[in-house]
Amino acid sequence: IEAGFFTVFNRQENILENYDHYEERKLSDMHRYFAAEDIRQQMALANNEVIYRVYKKTAPLIAGELEQAVTVINPGQVNGEFFMTKGHYHINEKCSEVFFTLKGEGLLLLQKGQETKWLEMKPDVITYIPAGWGHRTINTSLSEPFVFIAFWPANAGHNYQKSLDEPFGRRVFFYNGSYIVSKVL
Ligand code: PA5
Ligand code: NI
Repeated sequence: IEAGFFTVFNRQENILENYDHYEERKLSDMHRYFAAEDIRQQMALANNEVIYRVYKKTAPLIAGELEQAVTVINPGQVNGEFFMTKGHYHINEKCSEVFFTLKGEGLLLLQKGQETKWLEMKPDVITYIPAGWGHRTINTSLSEPFVFIAFWPANAGHNYQKSLDEPFGRRVFFYNGSYIVSKVL
């Protein structure tokens, strides 16, 4: 790794300049994540939209190092449920994370056991994810991308299976020109 480096958020392009790792999640990558799985599947076949993109700048994957990534969640819905990330837990349950909101508006949904919390995110709001909590972000805007940068310990690891096995207890839908956080029964 370079001895000190910088990255730049390019707010015209919505990318992290100098990123070294890119991932995108389309409708077809989101099997089982939305409530209306049948509609997601139809949408993926008709027009396989990108739901979110992640531009990462990696660091050595060892304790003490920090990784960073910009996430861009497009506006959109699957049967009224807002576009969102898969959500995950950290494999190393001692690892926390910080998000700094760059553009747009959305929610950070947190889950630990039966407990669920959510925080509103908009530009300049910095949210904290305590160690051990599952986290998912949701774009609640009807027209704008929701963009934030994340910083997390490089030895955290990502556990996606857990957020499928123990799904988030709330889902976020379009409602009355805004959003509603509804309990999963
Ligand atoms: O580190 C994080 O938690 C974020 O950078 C996420 O990885 C990113 O927002 C994409 O979400 P997910 O990893 O749940 O697909
Ligand atoms: Ni994380």
